Amino acid sequence: MTNKNVNARTGLNSIWTESIANNQQPDNKALLAHLKTVHQNNAGFTEKCASSCRDKAGRNSYEWLAEIVPDVDGTRVLDLACGSGPLLKILYDLNKNFKLKGADISPEELELAKARLPKGSVDLFELKAQNLTAINDNSIDVVLCHWALTLMNPITPVLNEIRRVLSAGGRFAALVNGPMNAAPGYSDVYNLIYKYVQAKLPRYGEIDLGDPRIRSTDSLKNLLSQTFTDSNISIETSMVSMEGPVAEVAETTAGFFYASFILSPETREVMLSKLSDLLTISKQSRDLERQGRFSMPINRLVITK
Ligand SMILES: C[S@@+](CC[C@H](N)C(=O)[O-])C[C@H]1O[C@@H](n2cnc3c(N)ncnc32)[C@H](O)[C@@H]1O
Repeated sequence: MTNKNVNARTGLNSIWTESIANNQQPDNKALLAHLKTVHQNNAGFTEKCASSCRDKAGRNSYEWLAEIVPDVDGTRVLDLACGSGPLLKILYDLNKNFKLKGADISPEELELAKARLPKGSVDLFELKAQNLTAINDNSIDVVLCHWALTLMNPITPVLNEIRRVLSAGGRFAALVNGPMNAAPGYSDVYNLIYKYVQAKLPRYGEIDLGDPRIRSTDSLKNLLSQTFTDSNISIETSMVSMEGPVAEVAETTAGFFYASFILSPETREVMLSKLSDLLTISKQSRDLERQGRFSMPINRLVITK
């Protein structure tokens, strides 16, 4: 553990978790500080789960989102909150003549992205999505955002920035949470992890990261239509799953939930054991032989400017 906010005994604490503990609504500065701390200590965690979970056609959610980009040389793409860069790498492999940019607030994630992408193939920026100063007006054909819109608050400046940088006829596509009931067992996984988190911070869940309007399909559509007036907005729901030795599936699943990072190592172990039981699909006696499955609901939204 490399950060002063991460205590080997109590787990991760930040000004965001302290606000919740004190029954206060954390402000946006606290949210950014919390996100940076989580990513500083766990860079690359989203990719671990998201790249393993696949839909019926065999695509992971990065590949599903990348399908929005037309395979035309010179297409200018911005990956907003690019993290460790898995989506940028998929795009680069699809067409070496795309003009790729990535932006994120986490220097540790950007380092991973830089290391995996050929030198000079992508412009990477340490920037907040609310203030994309390095990106010119009307200079991007497709803005993509994979599993990050849900974390952003305030959200309206982000949507305004996306509209500003998109060229006329350009597209914005994002991968966000789907409705809980669109994947079997997902709400049980959510409830189990949050039960352990709420034993430490009772209001975690009632207060969560980002703007709550992104989490429901109807409120998301409503929010988007306030910025992208007169644009066509489509939201498609799908489900992705992974299978494997249950202890690994449980570890990767838990690592996908930001909430799980606040648990102490001891509580995390207990939670992982219960999660393994929940995710088990074959009953072998020894843990390593037991197989598990995790499924999650996803939404892909697409807007044409
Ligand atoms: C769940 S990760 C997803 C990373 C990557 N898109 C992926 O799917 O692998 C969320 C990312 O959003 C970034 N992030 C959160 N809030 C942000 C903001 N306001 N502006 C830019 N990046 C942000 C985090 O640093 C993190 O890398």
